Amino acid sequence: MIKLPAMDFPVEKMINTARAAKEAAYAPYSGLRVGAALLTSQGRLYKGCNIENVSYGLTVCAERVAFYKAFSEGERQFAAMAVISDLDGFCSPCGACRQVLSEFGADLKIYICSKNGEFIVKTLTELLPEPFIFRPSS
Ligand code: THU
Repeated sequence: MIKLPAMDFPVEKMINTARAAKEAAYAPYSGLRVGAALLTSQGRLYKGCNIENVSYGLTVCAERVAFYKAFSEGERQFAAMAVISDLDGFCSPCGACRQVLSEFGADLKIYICSKNGEFIVKTLTELLPEPFIFRPSS
């Protein structure tokens, strides 16, 4: 069994949580359900699903839902995220999610999964080598 540094967390559990999160997806427009599970450095897991809107641009991806849930509960350090969808192919996070996640962890490991749980692992830096960065002067 593959384990993650965050408290020896099993990868399978994170992927199964992402798969379960997908069940709550609201995707009447695209028909594509996506689930994400975000593992904190303390070994806590937060899940998210995509939530679409009739005003299409207001749709929020599963990854950001998981991240915002964790962040709003006070989490600031993250170890890994699993992303899964109903597609046979690997479900890789969109550019907007990469930028949002990059604010809190270049080393975050992303488990990009196929629907049956095969995965590719990439760090966030590999997925988004040059995020937008702006440091306002005080
Ligand atoms: N989607 C995600 O949830 N995560 C991604 O990284 C890419 C796309 C969702 C948004 C939309 O509800 C559906 O997939 C089709 O784009």
